[in-house]
Amino acid sequence: MTTPILIATGNPGKLAEYTHLLADLPVEWHSLTDLGIRADVEETGTDFEANALLKAHEYGRRANMLTLADDSGLVVDALGGEPGVHSARYGGPGLDDAGRWRLLLDNLRGVPDEKRTARFVCTIAAVAPNGEAIITEGTLEGRIAHEGRGEHGFGYDPVFYLPERGVTLAELPPAQKNAISHRANAAAALRPYLIDMLTL
Ligand code: IMP
Repeated sequence: MTTPILIATGNPGKLAEYTHLLADLPVEWHSLTDLGIRADVEETGTDFEANALLKAHEYGRRANMLTLADDSGLVVDALGGEPGVHSARYGGPGLDDAGRWRLLLDNLRGVPDEKRTARFVCTIAAVAPNGEAIITEGTLEGRIAHEGRGEHGFGYDPVFYLPERGVTLAELPPAQKNAISHRANAAAALRPYLIDMLTL
């Protein structure tokens, strides 16, 4: 028997990543698009967990099926955790991805390497039709580089440096990024709970 699950994202890249990471489960995957649900829930929470729960509850209510939603962002220690939940709109609506990471580099000017520690965080909420909810978190540790490098990925990848590999995330081929990413780690943590929820 397969269980229908909604992956509540408007981002086709995330959808592909999650269905790939959880491909072996007895699940019939659905997207907001194929269910005709608009991706219009605003992320008004003050942390990743609140935003993930907000989306999983609301889209799950509309779809009436087990629903996964996530929220993610970049946490920079020298900036007190910013951009954090504001990662997608850091610097305001006029900036694109490159504008946002350039602003980040400007805000870190003069900060030495050892104080440029940062992590990507991904929180996934899984909410069942009976209201039962599970939250998991995954992180990827690194440092903010002094300049952008690499062509892969999106968002802050060109300035997210992995010291042990000597490359930025944007220099890693997608398959290698997807194997170590905060999303992969959050999905791996979710897997056993999700399997339990499938048998409810
Ligand atoms: P959301 O989870 O789609 O709301 O993503 C929030 C924002 O965090 C994105 O718009 C990016 O700016 C940033 N972000 C999240 N994950 C990544 C990643 O894997 N690489 C680069 N930036 C990311």
